[in-house]
Amino acid sequence: MAKWRDNATMRVLGIESSCDETAVAIISESSGLLANKLYSQIELHSPYGGVVPELASRDHIRKLGPLVHETLAESKLELADIDAIAYTSGPGLMGALMVGAGFARSLAWSIDKPAISIHHMEAHLLAPLIENISPNLPYVALLVSGGHTLLVKIDALGDYTILGESIDDAVGEAFDKTAQLLGLPYPGGPHIAKLAIQGNAKRFNFPRPMTDRPGLDFSFSGLKTHVLNTLRGLQKNQSSIDDQTRADVACAFEEAAVDTLVIKSLRALEQSNANTLVVAGGVGANKKLRQQLKENLAKRGMEVFYPAPEFCTDNAAMVAQLGLLKLAELRVQETIPAQELQIKVQPRWSLEAI
Ligand code: KG4
Ligand code: ZN
Repeated sequence: MAKWRDNATMRVLGIESSCDETAVAIISESSGLLANKLYSQIELHSPYGGVVPELASRDHIRKLGPLVHETLAESKLELADIDAIAYTSGPGLMGALMVGAGFARSLAWSIDKPAISIHHMEAHLLAPLIENISPNLPYVALLVSGGHTLLVKIDALGDYTILGESIDDAVGEAFDKTAQLLGLPYPGGPHIAKLAIQGNAKRFNFPRPMTDRPGLDFSFSGLKTHVLNTLRGLQKNQSSIDDQTRADVACAFEEAAVDTLVIKSLRALEQSNANTLVVAGGVGANKKLRQQLKENLAKRGMEVFYPAPEFCTDNAAMVAQLGLLKLAELRVQETIPAQELQIKVQPRWSLEAI
């Protein structure tokens, strides 16, 4: 069985392939992030208005090898200089996860180093650490992407409580579906935000789902249906919907979605006795959401933190970062644990089950 490199600064190569981004990064214990590469499949899936799982898996196979080469070259390292391979093993798309896990475990096996399985959402929660920022504990994270809407309390590394989550569509999915109804390209979030700038916020008032009752769960499918019914109602009265009306609908939808996230985030902070909110995921790029969270939290003496955009959306730096923390735990055992030959992934995997 191999030994650790003597007195070495640990370096971890991270691999992310849970959805439609293929990403590879290398992080060093002493020098931080050495390289962070990402290939987005947006163009591949765009004609279908959403991610096609089979196409995603095939593309990860095509891109992973070249990305590992590029990442090593940029870090001026060879595979032998890497101490562990960390990879996302769930939650996510089964085929996409299998590609990343199979690749990562084979790579680790070939250099006789550990392969470390990473929970994708846990990596998102700890993304601030990439920039050397450790929010005061406990803190609350709002994870808002195309696949997830979650409020999580973080009491310590590995100690997570899910405070609330979407019982149906994720908020990013609602942005994407609303965009599709308005004839906008995929992914729809940025296009809705752009169109909403021209909209009149007073023309329509859409519901803020599940905010009128206690609790921290979300539901966004009704909001999307409300958009559909509004557009159908308008189409009955006029043959085509004019540009101003489309902007007004985009604006009403965005306001409702953002308000809902703000109301629930404030509730989660108060309930957890926390004063810091970390926002991650693609919807975290939304300017209205950022502005409203900032204003509302500042009024209560609380603060909101956003990882840099490249660490906010799916990336491999967060996988490598969490891998480094897990490697530190493994090192205490002094020898490298034996490799399991079986490759396991968990498309559904609760943060509380880690
Ligand atoms: O985290 P992410 O990049 O990828 C995954 O879901 O895995 O999130 C993508 C989601 C999409 O649903 C997209 O429409 C949404 O984030 N999004 C936005 C904005 N930018 C991206 N939603 C609202 N406003 C934005 N500015
Ligand atoms: Zn993600």
